Amino acid sequence: MKTLEVTPLEKKKLNVLIMEKEYNEPFWIAEQKTSNNLGAIYKPSIGFFKFLENVVAKVNLDFATDELGMRSQEDFEKNILSELFRKDNIPFFAVDIDPNARTYLASALDEKIELRNKTIKTIERLSKKKEKDETMEKEYLVAYGQNLQSEIEGVEHEAIFSVRENWIVMGILDQAREIKGKKEINSLHICSPDHCASIKKILESLNVKVEVAKLSKKVIAATAEVPSSHELENYLQSMQIQIKPVIKKAADKAPHLLFYFDTDVKASPFDICMAYDIGYDAVIPYENVTPEEAKLLTQDALFSRGTKGIKHTTFMIGGKNAERAEDVFKAIKNSMFPQFKTSIIVDPAGAYTTAAAMVAKTERSISSSKLGELKDKTCAILGTGSVGKIAAVLLAKLGCTVMIASLNPKRVDGKEHAKNIARLLAKDHGVQVEGLYAPTPASKIEILKKADVIMCAGIRGIRLIDKEMLDEVKNIKILIDINAIPPFGIEGIELNDNMKEMMPGIFVIGALTVGNLKNKLEKEILRDARNRGKEVYNYTHALPMARQLLQESLVPKVTLSLSYPNRKTK
Ligand SMILES: NC(=O)c1ccc[n+]([C@@H]2O[C@H](COP(=O)([O-])OP(=O)(O)OC[C@H]3O[C@@H](n4cnc5c(N)ncnc54)[C@H](OP(=O)(O)O)[C@@H]3O)[C@@H](O)[C@H]2O)c1
Repeated sequence: MKTLEVTPLEKKKLNVLIMEKEYNEPFWIAEQKTSNNLGAIYKPSIGFFKFLENVVAKVNLDFATDELGMRSQEDFEKNILSELFRKDNIPFFAVDIDPNARTYLASALDEKIELRNKTIKTIERLSKKKEKDETMEKEYLVAYGQNLQSEIEGVEHEAIFSVRENWIVMGILDQAREIKGKKEINSLHICSPDHCASIKKILESLNVKVEVAKLSKKVIAATAEVPSSHELENYLQSMQIQIKPVIKKAADKAPHLLFYFDTDVKASPFDICMAYDIGYDAVIPYENVTPEEAKLLTQDALFSRGTKGIKHTTFMIGGKNAERAEDVFKAIKNSMFPQFKTSIIVDPAGAYTTAAAMVAKTERSISSSKLGELKDKTCAILGTGSVGKIAAVLLAKLGCTVMIASLNPKRVDGKEHAKNIARLLAKDHGVQVEGLYAPTPASKIEILKKADVIMCAGIRGIRLIDKEMLDEVKNIKILIDINAIPPFGIEGIELNDNMKEMMPGIFVIGALTVGNLKNKLEKEILRDARNRGKEVYNYTHALPMARQLLQESLVPKVTLSLSYPNRKTK
């Protein structure tokens, strides 16, 4: 039995012109899908024949191939195309899956098909009965039958597409191997529309030069009305078919590039990995980027790519310092002008996506726990890093009363630092928040008492709140922690907590509950920027996207395990 082995040609160059057929050559492994009557129209039209005649006259072909499909070799040779190639002395071969391989694949399906047919018969028999038990049995059989059917279709699809396409390619290469004494060979392959793209891809992966052509047909008829069957003859006499070849252009191949500008000394692998994972073809990191450098780098990148390539170009800005990242963002944005605009993502050390995920998660948890609305709450942010500052901005913009507190006992200028943060947020983001300094347990308890919602955005591995402090608070509180490195920001909290009532009236959300949403959100932003290519993505865009993701994940993820009910013994 012949085996499938697709290897490149050695010391020979092969050019293949793929000519797309006007129909898909009928082919099936186990079950015939098309009626035999259609055979009358599954053949080359006169237009296709004429066009091919022209190609054969003009291109110096060494051989030609066509799919055999379900035709016999005898039928294949009687075909008008065989006559055409014979007339011009061009060897013409049928290429397809080996008959033994096809039989082998079909027999693998036989058992499943038999089982499915039996299942259908039993369902039909049960449908005629009315007893409750039988109805239940029927439902199970329906599910079983559906399962079998999708397995059959899956195996058939795999055989008809990827397996068969490889056999076809092997057939073309084998014919090229047979041609001796020529370094460059030209061939033509007549191909079903459904297989053109994959066969092209497989051939190209084997260093074959491929061009695909199809016919564009336009019917010019005296009347636009569709004729009734008895008028068909007159209608045909009055019409012309205008045929012209169209060279199918290769798909847009400009790769998706992400230029990653980090303001820190080392570019973060986190964002780079995420970008590759969602499908960027290349991520190019730059470190220590200043606004001046960003401007030059942006222009260099854009001018080299042309309008199509620009759509496949994304800029992303990272780095611990959000203010520096915003300056780089402005420099990139100002370097762009109409026709030379593309996506820019700003997410300094993940702060914007983390803050948006934290706020969206809290908002949904509060409303779904029937604890009111986040916008009406007093919120305290513990930590004045980039995440804390942006969370404060998002909450203030929602309408919350917001405090942002530095808890760092090492600060000598704590009060002044906290006030400066509040001033900075007012200047840069137009929001009013209260800046506080709370390095001691007593000052922290005071904040805990005033706030309904407490978001811990302190440095990793530092405990900010312990249980004794929580003992002091009376009203219902929602506490969120985003520090995933032990000790966590809140004593007793666990990474995956999701509105767990840790103490009476104290509901907590852990770092991974927020972190998982943050990761999904960053990927969604990268995907959107890659696919749509004309948008700025900052914290303002991140919040609605995070809300949307939470909405989507409301679809219940349930695994049902149903067991077949025992028949009642009568
Ligand atoms: N879960 C996630 O997906 C995720 C994603 C990104 C970040 N994170 C986490 O989010 C947190 C905040 O990150 P960030 O980048 O905004 O800020 P950060 O640089 O990690 O630090 C936050 C703040 O912690 C304070 N701090 C430093 N030493 C302290 C101490 N000994 N005691 C109390 N406070 C201290 C500092 O406040 P002062 O300015 O007042 O000194 C600093 O601004 C970190 O824990 C980070 O790991 C989580």
